[in-house]
Amino acid sequence: MDSNSQAAKTVIENDFFLCLLSDLEEMQTIELTLEERQLFAIRQDNQLYAYWNSCPHMGIPLNWMPEKFLDLDGIFLQCSSHGALFQISRW
Ligand code: FES
Repeated sequence: MDSNSQAAKTVIENDFFLCLLSDLEEMQTIELTLEERQLFAIRQDNQLYAYWNSCPHMGIPLNWMPEKFLDLDGIFLQCSSHGALFQISRW
């Protein structure tokens, strides 16, 4: 099992209340804290996706400003450090 699969499995095996779908507008993000780890959630197509707020290269927060995780077009998640783009999707 690779590290992404392990991370996904960890998320799936544990149920935590993060926020309500209705708390967010379409493509709005919200920063959250879960057991002292930073994560964020985004609403897309009436689905709520949550990710650890950690760049896969450097481990720094992905966002460039509070609750700003998307590229200028508002389509992809973008790392604040080197600009890598990530598609919002289920694993
Ligand atoms: S430095 Fe964050 S994805 Fe590359």
